[in-house]
Amino acid sequence: MFGHFRRQGGTGSTRSAEALRLVKVSKVYGSDDSAVTALDGVSLSLPAGSFTAVMGPSGSGKSTLLQCAAGLDRADSGIVMVDGEQMTGGTEAELTKFRRQRVGFVFQQYNLLDTLTVEQNTTLPLRLAGRRVDRRRARDILARVGLGERLGHRPDQLSGGQRQRVAIARALVTEPSVIFADEPTGALDTRSAREVLGLLQEAVRVHGRTVVMVTHDPVAASYADAVLFLADGRLAGHMERPTVDEVAERLAHLGDMVAARHDVPAGV
Ligand SMILES: Nc1ncnc2c1ncn2[C@@H]1O[C@H](COP(=O)(O)OP(=O)(O)OP(=O)(O)O)[C@@H](O)[C@H]1O
Ligand SMILES: [Mg+2]
Repeated sequence: MFGHFRRQGGTGSTRSAEALRLVKVSKVYGSDDSAVTALDGVSLSLPAGSFTAVMGPSGSGKSTLLQCAAGLDRADSGIVMVDGEQMTGGTEAELTKFRRQRVGFVFQQYNLLDTLTVEQNTTLPLRLAGRRVDRRRARDILARVGLGERLGHRPDQLSGGQRQRVAIARALVTEPSVIFADEPTGALDTRSAREVLGLLQEAVRVHGRTVVMVTHDPVAASYADAVLFLADGRLAGHMERPTVDEVAERLAHLGDMVAARHDVPAGV
């Protein structure tokens, strides 16, 4: 339990022991007949310095959960707190500022800018936030993710695994409280996936970040400290110290439950 109250260093500020809290977060897309409840009152609390995987059937709300928690999208109701501070319900500019100060995001398709070099992509969040660009630190981070020799390359000169490592460097550069990753290994081969998962794990264990990662892959989930399962926009289970076999079994069960609720015909 004490591990949950680890204090984070680096910037010299004292961080909250709770990195992320969601209270009854709901999100509905569309309206009337076409309304889809993507999130249905999700509450959770993640300690600082934890690595959590989010799993569940396609359409269960995983990406919506990440986007609302990261401030990339707005929940319809409920509260999101990052590092002890409530995400503002204010203007778009306020939300963007909050996000830039507190969270990093890693996407399945990397989302790098093709016209910028590896180094420029990495320091972009600092520029956007109007913060001083410490090139030496950016280079240190790029060296850590194995791209110290690729600073001047452009994304189209890199492999998928290398691109994703740039995206991780970009997410680390602002020293965010929470890094959200939506299927970060979804487009990668096994070896690149392992490297990316190792880096996310290192961000937590060595550098004290908090990582929340959506994945469909039980092997990827086994790198996390815990798994949250989602079904139909609601939390549907929780597993500490996940193993590949246990996760696969729970997922199969979850799929059966969802199928039963929706009267899916046998064999489909
Ligand atoms: N922009 C949108 N407009 C309308 N409906 C949406 C939108 N985004 C998501 N949805 C719906 O909300 C539900 C949750 O979607 P979400 O993308 O969060 O699922 P997911 O768990 O990430 O699925 P996957 O594993 O396929 O990525 C789905 O039913 C989806 O169709
Ligand atoms: Mg998704």
